[in-house]
Amino acid sequence: MRVHLAEHPLIAHKLTVLRDERTDSPTFRLLTEELVTLLAYEATRDIATEPKEVATPVATTTGTRLKRPRPIVVPILRAGLGMLEGMRRLVPTAEIGFLGLKRDEETLEAVTYANRLPDDLSGRQCFVLDPMLATGHTLVASIEYLLERGARDVTCITLLCAPEGLRHLEDTVGKRGNVRVVTAAIDDRLNDKAYIVPGLGDAGDRLYGVVD
Ligand code: URA
Repeated sequence: MRVHLAEHPLIAHKLTVLRDERTDSPTFRLLTEELVTLLAYEATRDIATEPKEVATPVATTTGTRLKRPRPIVVPILRAGLGMLEGMRRLVPTAEIGFLGLKRDEETLEAVTYANRLPDDLSGRQCFVLDPMLATGHTLVASIEYLLERGARDVTCITLLCAPEGLRHLEDTVGKRGNVRVVTAAIDDRLNDKAYIVPGLGDAGDRLYGVVD
């Protein structure tokens, strides 16, 4: 499994504002989108392309276009939804699927409560959006779901990772297919409630407010 830590002063700056507990939800949402656009630039470095003839006003040349089938972007509900616009800005022709997984706060296991994805993902490049790779349970369940449907190329875009979650991913799905993680930061650890430390708190709550 490849892990790409996107190091850039703008990413570091925006992430610091996201971490700040005083940052309000509208600002948090805007910064998340901007960060994802920057991360998506790295995450799409290996996006499948093919040559395409193009006539400029001066001459004909061979350019590049995205290959079919189109890549599929899969935000993990609910917090991954906050990353979707940032990704779509860079790859507007990608198809969008949805996976709803949430963490059982007792067992910390991922539970699927919604899905809207093609049954056959053979040959599709998948980009999974989930801001926080904490224990890794949600992301592992999502990646397994995609691999079981034939996907072989899965890139996960996250804002923050915990080392524990990265290890869990490596041990479970790291050698199945071409799995990659692109992230803005790898933090210190998880706390006893499986929150990332220092982290940024609950990403879903900070994006959309607390829902009981
Ligand atoms: N999910 C979050 O939103 N934040 C964490 O720190 C861990 C999981």
